[in-house]
Amino acid sequence: MSSHQVGSYQVKVLPSGLTFEVASGQTILDAALEQGIDFPNRCRQGVCTSCVCKLRSGTVVYLPPEPLSDIDKAQNFTYCCLAYPDSDLVLHHPFIRG
Ligand code: FES
Repeated sequence: MSSHQVGSYQVKVLPSGLTFEVASGQTILDAALEQGIDFPNRCRQGVCTSCVCKLRSGTVVYLPPEPLSDIDKAQNFTYCCLAYPDSDLVLHHPFIRG
């Protein structure tokens, strides 16, 4: 990935190192699925937690109501089915392979 597309952010998932772009207005999950990435998900509504990653760096935003509990915030959990990147991100999810 040589240059940074305007209006999109780069998301990297550790430990695999898988990297993909998320266009503005797209959730992390939608962008991953659109690019053929096998990203865990079930409910796509912030309930099942299968898409939840740990945020290692960067910022995400949610449409209200924000799905995060205090514990989620303390643990840096990110609901990828609902989260919109607000910067380049580094996430951690043990089951996502590159
Ligand atoms: S897909 Fe269920 S919480 Fe995101």
